[in-house]
Amino acid sequence: MVTIIYSLLLWTFLLCSVNCEYKPCQLREYPDGFVCVCNEDYCDTMDVKKPQKFGDFLTISSTKSGKRFEVNKGRFKPKPIEPNVRRVRRFSDLFRTKRNTKTTTVESLSLTINLNKTYQKMVGFGGAFTGTVSYLFDSMPESLRHTLYRNYYAPDEGIGYTMMRLPIGGCDFDQSPWAYNEYPIDDRQLSNFTQLDPRDVRRNEQINVIKKVANIDYIKLIGAAWSPPKWMKTNNAWSGYNALKEEFYQTWADYHVRYLDLMADANMTFWGLSTGNEPLNGEIGWFFVHFMSLGWMPGNQGKWIAENLGPSLLEKSKFRDLKLFAGDDQRYTWPWWFEHLNKSTFDGKSAMDFVSGLAVHWYWDRLISPTLLDHTHEKFPDKILLNTESCIGDKPFEKHGPILGSWPRAERYALGMIQDFQHYVAGWIDWNLLLNEHGGPTYTIYNTVDSAVILNTTTKNEFYKQPIFYVLAHFSKFIPSDSVRIEAELSGFRAFNIKTVAFLCPDNSVTVILYNHSDKLRIVDFTDDLRGSYEFRLEPRSITTFVYA
Ligand SMILES: *[C@@H]1O[C@H](CO)[C@@H](O)[C@H](O)[C@H]1NC(C)=O
Ligand SMILES: *[C@@H]1O[C@H](CO)[C@@H](O)[C@H](O)[C@H]1NC(C)=O
Ligand SMILES: *[C@@H]1O[C@H](CO)[C@@H](O)[C@H](O)[C@H]1NC(C)=O
Ligand SMILES: *[C@@H]1O[C@H](CO)[C@@H](O)[C@H](O)[C@H]1NC(C)=O
Ligand SMILES: *[C@@H]1O[C@H](CO)[C@@H](O)[C@H](O)[C@H]1NC(C)=O
Ligand SMILES: *[C@@H]1O[C@H](CO)[C@@H](O)[C@H](O)[C@H]1NC(C)=O
Repeated sequence: MVTIIYSLLLWTFLLCSVNCEYKPCQLREYPDGFVCVCNEDYCDTMDVKKPQKFGDFLTISSTKSGKRFEVNKGRFKPKPIEPNVRRVRRFSDLFRTKRNTKTTTVESLSLTINLNKTYQKMVGFGGAFTGTVSYLFDSMPESLRHTLYRNYYAPDEGIGYTMMRLPIGGCDFDQSPWAYNEYPIDDRQLSNFTQLDPRDVRRNEQINVIKKVANIDYIKLIGAAWSPPKWMKTNNAWSGYNALKEEFYQTWADYHVRYLDLMADANMTFWGLSTGNEPLNGEIGWFFVHFMSLGWMPGNQGKWIAENLGPSLLEKSKFRDLKLFAGDDQRYTWPWWFEHLNKSTFDGKSAMDFVSGLAVHWYWDRLISPTLLDHTHEKFPDKILLNTESCIGDKPFEKHGPILGSWPRAERYALGMIQDFQHYVAGWIDWNLLLNEHGGPTYTIYNTVDSAVILNTTTKNEFYKQPIFYVLAHFSKFIPSDSVRIEAELSGFRAFNIKTVAFLCPDNSVTVILYNHSDKLRIVDFTDDLRGSYEFRLEPRSITTFVYA
């Protein structure tokens, strides 16, 4: 028996020392594209070793046609010459007569990286652990659940998430709307908010297991409240046109501090806190947003931050190092929201003096110019810009739920993330870590959406990793916290079809992400003065991560 075990171990060791750094995707085709299937017996992993030796590189690609995180390793060489390839770099090259019919025409581009031109320092990547996510995790067999935990949070096997957004009380993805101290009403002392709700206790246990199975000791937690108990609000309801009653401004600040205190007692120390999820939902969005909200205009919110939340949290509590994130709403609120917060002053301090970061949601990004992010950065250069929510399927004209295998949805993430990072955003938190095949379950109606991972709730013994999951991985896996964005430029024929963004990592390796938006094969030349050159192909509709030491 012992011999058998030893020989098995030996075999595993031998196989792995040759080539089992990572397990490939188990691909399944649905009408709209490919997903990777994971069950209790098998799940693909991403334990790809970063190149260590100066001049080594790897490229990783995922494509519409079904490649998922495919790894190639190499070393820079003196520039290769391909005699039978005619390079088209300018428009006029296209019309030169072709004499040699064996020559293939390729559209070629060159990539230039400038380490000396640096931008924002990255804080990390993560997902939201909503009530729905917690509920779905608990419906899965334990080993499958642990596999999914590692898929997201394990630095080796997973995609290396380091952040997590937690709703304080209920949000729009939960089994019912809820808040702490719903009773007794009008209770300024929050006398019934003395312990964590069983739902938070359970989620904390799950988070502890995530840390254990992913073998990490710290996750950057960022909290956000959707709504206070109804009695604090002008309309005494969870949603609709509403605001905080002024008599409860201090109570709502105390509520946040109480929550952080109780969470700290449970060893859940927060890195960041939002001033409140999507404040305009209770002001202008209430007509079509039917989930929990608290309406604010920046004038009122600024007063609340400057007079109540800011001092209670960052001057009087033990959470003085916490990073307060303002905004937490769509790009179109930038920068005017913060300019207004900046005008609310109390005791010599403005609301913005308490704020470390500015949080943005991506939902209307295709209509709103990213220059708003630049303007905001110029006005508030010392604030961290962070995307705190993204998902697809929220719009009236979109399918309100998952489209299994949809590459166009993944492409929207790729383009959205590259655009944000090109405009000072320093991290990305996706919405629900997991949803069911209908994009729920949740108490709200018409509010089911897509997610990076979908659970089969018929059998509960398999989950599907959507193309979105891999696009997120192309960024999160090789852009560790504290990486710095550097200048990356593509020049050549139709360079606009390729989007790119690059980072210098703390270990001095460089990570470049390229998204090929076109339907044609393209070649990219890359030459580094010290390392040599490399020429790589970007397949149609593909995302590539290029990492070099
Ligand atoms: C980058 O900066 C270093 C040190 O300041 C300098 O030696 C080098 O020439 C610069 N490189 C480029 C490409 O500007
Ligand atoms: C305290 O909250 C719990 C849970 O919501 C509720 O059942 C209980 O009635 C509340 N206590 C008081 C005194 O209102
Ligand atoms: C918190 O951590 C301490 C020290 O590791 C431990 O003694 C305590 O039991 C933990 N508390 C909870 C609620 O997990
Ligand atoms: C913020 O307020 C301070 C103090 O009033 C002012 O000096 C600064 O220009 C304001 N910044 C912006 C971007 O409005
Ligand atoms: C879930 O599993 C069941 C049983 O294997 C299968 O019939 C069903 O098609 C699966 N659902 C999806 C979305 O693949
Ligand atoms: C982008 O994809 C197209 C096909 O969609 C391909 O022809 C082209 O070569 C790719 N671009 C690069 C830079 O490789």
